[in-house]
Amino acid sequence: MRQNIVAANWKMNKEVQESYNFTKSLSKKLLNLKRTHIILCPPFTSLFYISELLKNTSIALGGQNMHYEKSGAFTGEISSSMLKSSGCDYVILGHSERRHIFNESNEAIKKKIDAALSNDLKPIICVGEKLGERQSGKTSEVIRSQYKSAFSDILEYEINRCVIAYEPVWAIGTGMTATPEQASEVQGLIRNLIEEQYSKNVADSMPILYGGSVKPTNANSLIETENIDGFLIGGASLVEELFFEIVNIVEQYSIE
Ligand code: 13P
Repeated sequence: MRQNIVAANWKMNKEVQESYNFTKSLSKKLLNLKRTHIILCPPFTSLFYISELLKNTSIALGGQNMHYEKSGAFTGEISSSMLKSSGCDYVILGHSERRHIFNESNEAIKKKIDAALSNDLKPIICVGEKLGERQSGKTSEVIRSQYKSAFSDILEYEINRCVIAYEPVWAIGTGMTATPEQASEVQGLIRNLIEEQYSKNVADSMPILYGGSVKPTNANSLIETENIDGFLIGGASLVEELFFEIVNIVEQYSIE
């Protein structure tokens, strides 16, 4: 059985004290979850401070990006061991904002995935097509190429530590959510790619999240859909009530 995951990507939001207060209040509400795994990905500046709050809870911490080198003259960058030593177990890699605003290539993302895995971090690997690509019928070609680049040479014991998030670029921060059918179709394609490369067992146990304008109003129909095992949430993860509501929807669904 696959684990359901709800991950919060705060992006470039919340200063240190605000992050701390938010996490303190939210984490109290999330203590009794039985089946939903929560991952909070605040900005780098808040990681260590928040990690102290999460120490004796099952809520995990993740970074939003990292560099693939271990250390050195890379001004403004942060390494996998820095994330690890700040309390992170996860790191988001290949987010579309990194791909399209900061021009990260499939090759750079692949190097980051390898570096994360060799430093005991679990990558949350994002894939997704742009609007023009969907409109010109290129969705599966784009997803295939992002998947193949990210997962080439990843061994079976390593894939078990990866999480995949399908985030159609046109749905991020736009209020336009993929329909459950659109999301399920792409997430099914990703699961098939995993099965081709590894096995049905590996494919069946891989958590595949959906991200892109997830709200309490659409979370229910998405989580009920085949191949969607949880969410990577941006905007709604910044508001305690909204995030908590979505987590509850996933938790209820898991228990049924
Ligand atoms: P929104 O939920 O704000 O659309 O952002 C999704 C996202 O990019 C999560 O990584």
